[in-house]
Amino acid sequence: KSSTAIAFVYRGTLVHSTPKEALQILEDALLGVDSEGKIAFIGEGNESQKLSEVFRFSPSAVTQLDQHEFLMPGMIDTHIHASQYSYAGTALDMPLLQWLNNYTFPVESQFKDLEFANKVYTQVVKRTLRNGTTTACYFATIHTDAALLLGQITNDFGQRALVGKVCMDRNDAVQHYRETSQESQDETNRFIKELLNRKYPLVKPVVTPRFAPSCTEALLAQLGATAKNNNLHIQSHISENLEEIKLVKELFPKSESYSDVYHKCNLLTDKTVMAHGCHLSDKELALFRETGAALSHCPNSNFSLCSGLLNVRNVLNHKVKLGLGTDVAGGYSSSMLDAVRRTLDGSKVLTIQDREHKTLTFEEVFRLATLGGSQALSLDEQTGNFQVGKDFDALRVNVAAPGGPIDLIKYEEPQIRLEKFLNLGDDRNIVEVFVAGRKVVPFREA
Ligand code: GUN
Ligand code: ZN
Repeated sequence: KSSTAIAFVYRGTLVHSTPKEALQILEDALLGVDSEGKIAFIGEGNESQKLSEVFRFSPSAVTQLDQHEFLMPGMIDTHIHASQYSYAGTALDMPLLQWLNNYTFPVESQFKDLEFANKVYTQVVKRTLRNGTTTACYFATIHTDAALLLGQITNDFGQRALVGKVCMDRNDAVQHYRETSQESQDETNRFIKELLNRKYPLVKPVVTPRFAPSCTEALLAQLGATAKNNNLHIQSHISENLEEIKLVKELFPKSESYSDVYHKCNLLTDKTVMAHGCHLSDKELALFRETGAALSHCPNSNFSLCSGLLNVRNVLNHKVKLGLGTDVAGGYSSSMLDAVRRTLDGSKVLTIQDREHKTLTFEEVFRLATLGGSQALSLDEQTGNFQVGKDFDALRVNVAAPGGPIDLIKYEEPQIRLEKFLNLGDDRNIVEVFVAGRKVVPFREA
């Protein structure tokens, strides 16, 4: 029993995942949130008298959900490039390496301009919050002050975030968009120190080597040491496309695999999340499992850049931690609902190719978008599902929201309501968003 007062209570349907059950449904439940934003109790509606005495809340603290509504955990975007939001929905006509050189690096170099950065970063944080992303793991750009600004904006709007200043000391194509190894290391240290000094409760720095081809081995090793010494998160990209893997073999001839390049530099830890991994071998997946490193599956990006098709079932069978990501703007959608749908599509393509393949269920993919993401980011003690003591990160969903995209002909059971929302819903169905017990959508006036 928590010692702080109850701030508010919801009564109605809760849907969430547990390690054992991909979908657990609690009907006519009571969920209480304390003044620190933590879940204080979860009980049954008929216990309301008893709970109100134990936790001392008045009937006026209780909000009753309507029959088309439910609460679900906030979604977790384990991989998104905040700067690339500026060109989302365009420029998807090239494979990865050409796409980086022709579109991405020129755009990212513009974030030296803090006014431009402020505009784009404010938009991406607002958009993802409206879309139900309560936690985001962001790449910024190489610019430390703009990355700090992204940290400030996520804090101001109340989104939980990992924010990374991008590190790259190799870039032959766009030579003005790179750092020296020394600059990269010094600026990373400054970024970490300044972000931690601000004591934002929900925002943490993440050590961010862009990917092996953008970094010398010396820089990778320094960043591995920095993460270790400060016990920090790490994010990067791995095995996204075949041409990239070939390039890594050429650049790091002494490493036995792409994963080995990172592993040698202490970059595979239980606080690491690597995007993509479409082409990892089973041996590399075993190394992920051993080190506790996680993967972020970004299906929209993998389709849009024709990078590859990750076998999610195989990753799950290897017991590698796995979350979903939008990978804006290799992925054109900033909505985690899109990541859910594309993950299901990808799994069905694998079944079309091989009837023995065990297709993912929507319940399993729902878990990846919520609890799986929190595990991938090692934030599952704070968020990911409804458990007493965790922070209340939640979406209030109305499947039949007036003016929304879903027509309900009649009352539907919770499981059907969730399935319809995942397949057909959008931000019009997301009535309220909470992070750590604070209502962040509708936006608070700044
Ligand atoms: N690999 C290195 N940088 C990037 C990036 O910005 N987007 C994607 N999709 N892959 C990358
Ligand atoms: Zn990416």
